[in-house]
Amino acid sequence: MIKRFSVPMLLAAFVIVLVVPSAMRAQDAASLYKSKCAACHAADGTGSAMGKKMGAQDFTSAEVQKMSDAELSDIITNGKAKMPAYKSLSADQVKGLVGYIRSLKK
Ligand code: HEC
Repeated sequence: MIKRFSVPMLLAAFVIVLVVPSAMRAQDAASLYKSKCAACHAADGTGSAMGKKMGAQDFTSAEVQKMSDAELSDIITNGKAKMPAYKSLSADQVKGLVGYIRSLKK
């Protein structure tokens, strides 16, 4: 026998479907950044000693923040000079990372 779903249960499921993915995306970007980017760009985006030596700029600076989303996405996806390419990231993940970089602005 298939049990009928109650209205509160359906509402709860609806809320989970709507709210959880966006919360997860934000968390995803932060953890993705920590695991893949922070080694060179530092947790706060200002650049680790190693990253700075390779030429990474400060993400909180006007120079980086004035780049368009398209430019930032392109550098993340295709790399630039010593910046490795991250072609395996989905468009959504790249978008999340661009948003994360924007959130580092002082
Ligand atoms: C191995 C070190 C390294 C890692 C890991 C790395 N980057 Fe970079 N990144 C660089 C370097 C070096 C540059 C500067 C490239 C240039 O312009 O010469 C750079 C440049 C950038 C830029 C352009 C702004 C700037 O600083 O010139 C963005 C945006 C960026 N990286 C994002 C990311 C993101 C997002 C990740 C993680 C998915 C990541 N990087 C991982 C080294 C790294």
